[in-house]
Amino acid sequence: MNTLPNPFRIAGVVEPPWFTDRADEVRRIRKTLARPPAKLLVYGERRMGKTSALHVARGQVERGGGAVVFADLSTASSPTDMANRLLGGASRALGRNWTDFVGDLAARLQVRLELTPDPVTGLAVPTVAASLRSRPEADQFESFVRVLDVLEGMAAARDARLGVILDEFQEIHRFGGEAAEWRLRGSVQTHQHLGYVLAGSDASLIRQMLGPGRAFYELFEPMHLGPIDPEHLTRWMDERMREHGAPCPGMGERSLAVAGERTRDVVRLARASFEEARGGCGDAEALVRDALARVVAEEDDRMRAVWYGLTGLQQNVLRAVAWNRAGLTAAETIERFGLGYGGTARNSAHALIKQGLLRKVESTVGYAFDSPFARAWVVGKALPDVGVLVAIDHL
Ligand SMILES: Nc1ncnc2c1ncn2[C@@H]1O[C@H](COP(=O)(O)OP(=O)(O)O)[C@@H](O)[C@H]1O
Ligand SMILES: [Mg+2]
Repeated sequence: MNTLPNPFRIAGVVEPPWFTDRADEVRRIRKTLARPPAKLLVYGERRMGKTSALHVARGQVERGGGAVVFADLSTASSPTDMANRLLGGASRALGRNWTDFVGDLAARLQVRLELTPDPVTGLAVPTVAASLRSRPEADQFESFVRVLDVLEGMAAARDARLGVILDEFQEIHRFGGEAAEWRLRGSVQTHQHLGYVLAGSDASLIRQMLGPGRAFYELFEPMHLGPIDPEHLTRWMDERMREHGAPCPGMGERSLAVAGERTRDVVRLARASFEEARGGCGDAEALVRDALARVVAEEDDRMRAVWYGLTGLQQNVLRAVAWNRAGLTAAETIERFGLGYGGTARNSAHALIKQGLLRKVESTVGYAFDSPFARAWVVGKALPDVGVLVAIDHL
């Protein structure tokens, strides 16, 4: 039995040797961070590897002596939360090296800051007073932009250069719409000491935000982060398996075919495949099927919670899309899954897109699952309800 550590990681962000490829993307991000007032906007689907690429580039800049403020805006529920994320990232990057960082920050910001010791680093992390949350969103957003202005002022006073990363920045639009975009542009375009990298996942929203007549048009250089070259990824997976004592020719190719093109999905299936291969590889296709069953089992609690929250019609739409044979309006689909005529199934599909379960694609069915594992769960657990039996890795 092979007891070597699993060569694939999916928890959190990954760095080499768990991170592969993306040399051009990482170089462009690194250069932008290190060369203010450069500005780059990275966009691509979720789970493609944006955040990981940002972290790898940040690490390179920091090892070269530079400073990078990293703010993850993905969980923010208000512009105040975004300001706090930025303050946290700033204190991590600058708290130790800039004398009287917090005092200077508080004096320049002119808002009351609360200090909370970080249980891990022991550093005092500044946050804006909680009372700000009850103010109108535009006022709160003003504080967020103020923090950026203050960082620019502090960097200028020290003749320093700073990289600033705003991950999942499209939240800005969610809270403040186009007015917030213009407000942010107004400040950012004057910052000479900050190199900005914005990253976001909602590709269609971001394409709009970059369009003519919009605030970010021609201010940011756009960079699309698509799938890793499939040949490279296949080779990398097979090599990692071999180096870790579990050679399994064909595993990489099959994992990619089953998991689709999002890096995280592919690596997650490869991770499960390595576990399956500890006792030997055998037939790669059967191995990856077992690995898929393993991931589906891990997802069972989460998928059940999602499933129980859906209407019967939505569940049937998911079954029809998982079945993947004919469109939602085809007579065969309507009959088999009880979808009814008219636009009702399509309305359900749109609700499921909003929830992030489905996405629109160019195919006869017109929709696909966002996650290959959610699809496999529906195929394995919910298609039998309607008498359809299909192997979970049937594409
Ligand atoms: N270049 C890469 N090499 C290997 N694995 C990667 C790479 N990029 C992403 N991953 C895998 O995908 C996971 C999620 O990637 P992440 O950077 O969070 O994606 P995104 O920010 O686009 O949603 C990582 O934890 C890792 O398992
Ligand atoms: Mg991310």
